[in-house]
Amino acid sequence: MDSNHVYLFNGFFFLVIFFLVVGTVLSADKNYEACVTANCGNGPNISYPFWINDIQNSTCGFPGFELSCKSREPILTMSGEEYIIRDIVYGNESFTIVKAGLANDICSPPSYKLSFSHLPFRYVATSVNLSVFFNCTGLPSSEYSRYLLGCGTAEPTNRPRNSSVALFSDDPMLRSVREIGKCDNSVVIPVDKIGNGSLDTFLSREYVAEFLNEGFHLRWTASRCDECAESGGRCGFDFDRYKFICFCTDRPHHRRCNNGKYVKDRSLVFTLFETNQYPV
Ligand SMILES: *[C@@H]1O[C@H](CO)[C@@H](O)[C@H](O)[C@H]1NC(C)=O
Ligand SMILES: *[C@@H]1O[C@H](CO)[C@@H](O)[C@H](O)[C@H]1NC(C)=O
Ligand SMILES: *[C@@H]1O[C@H](CO)[C@@H](O)[C@H](O)[C@H]1NC(C)=O
Ligand SMILES: *[C@@H]1O[C@H](CO)[C@@H](O)[C@H](O)[C@H]1NC(C)=O
Ligand SMILES: *[C@@H]1O[C@H](CO)[C@@H](O)[C@H](O)[C@H]1NC(C)=O
Ligand SMILES: *[C@@H]1O[C@H](CO)[C@@H](O)[C@H](O)[C@H]1NC(C)=O
Ligand SMILES: *[C@@H]1O[C@H](CO)[C@@H](O)[C@H](O)[C@H]1NC(C)=O
Repeated sequence: MDSNHVYLFNGFFFLVIFFLVVGTVLSADKNYEACVTANCGNGPNISYPFWINDIQNSTCGFPGFELSCKSREPILTMSGEEYIIRDIVYGNESFTIVKAGLANDICSPPSYKLSFSHLPFRYVATSVNLSVFFNCTGLPSSEYSRYLLGCGTAEPTNRPRNSSVALFSDDPMLRSVREIGKCDNSVVIPVDKIGNGSLDTFLSREYVAEFLNEGFHLRWTASRCDECAESGGRCGFDFDRYKFICFCTDRPHHRRCNNGKYVKDRSLVFTLFETNQYPV
């Protein structure tokens, strides 16, 4: 080889090395890239501790926070029932959910089988249960008229069915409805208490339907993301260590991104780059 060829060969060789090194350093870590915030089209943006199946990797969330997309809405499945996520407040670890597929009418009773025993969720302080009883025949109208929902009272059959009633769980009358109501069935619906007002508000059919459609708040429990997010990372879960992990542009870290490390890697690249300018 003459000197020109040697020069070209060396130049090419160093160029390849250069792109390999730069490529490694500048293309962000795969885990980091996989955990970019996503959404279902409608509804809130989803990031740690929640993750969307089919869109994000399970390593991007915390166990128990798997969501799916249905009709462009983020769906959380609990106790076999689907709930639409309306809002997520990452700052105070709370979110609002509404039962999916609710008939917009309390008179066709919804079912709620919600149980958090194995889930990282809990009710908030303002949660209250709304108990709805259907087709009661044992309630004297004078005392219970304010709880009446007005569900199909005209019953041209042999059995008088005149009243479906709704009461909040802290209402002292709840007990007697249970005892003397003779109701066909009942459901317990979690709702948010409104303001600090008394809950024995007159419960019309429309008012209760509004409660259902407003949904209710829950709080969650998972390792907090703040420290990692503030250091430029994306939070996730390491299933090998079964622990929180912080995905950073360079590589995964335990709690937060190590910026010093990143700077050191960059300076290494620039040194190599300068050397390559003048191949021997
Ligand atoms: C997705 O998660 C699996 C483990 O659940 C992991 O093996 C894989 O590398 C992850 N993929 C990406 C792109 O992060
Ligand atoms: C989701 O994130 C995008 C990009 O940051 C932002 O423009 C949008 O307003 C966010 N949507 C919601 C519902 O917060
Ligand atoms: C969380 O913050 C939001 C918005 O600031 C607020 O509406 C909600 O009540 C808070 N939830 C809890 C449980 O503190
Ligand atoms: C509502 O009822 C369920 C069970 O029916 C119970 O687990 C939950 O703690 C109740 N919530 C409130 C706020 O009383
Ligand atoms: C109430 O009774 C009516 C008439 O028998 C029936 O069609 C309806 O399904 C009942 N509602 C409930 C919630 O059981
Ligand atoms: C329901 O009907 C029964 C018998 O017709 C009546 O005694 C009772 O007062 C009625 N209750 C309500 C809440 O209207
Ligand atoms: C409750 O509401 C009343 C007015 O309806 C208000 O004066 C009072 O400050 C409220 N109390 C709390 C603790 O928010």
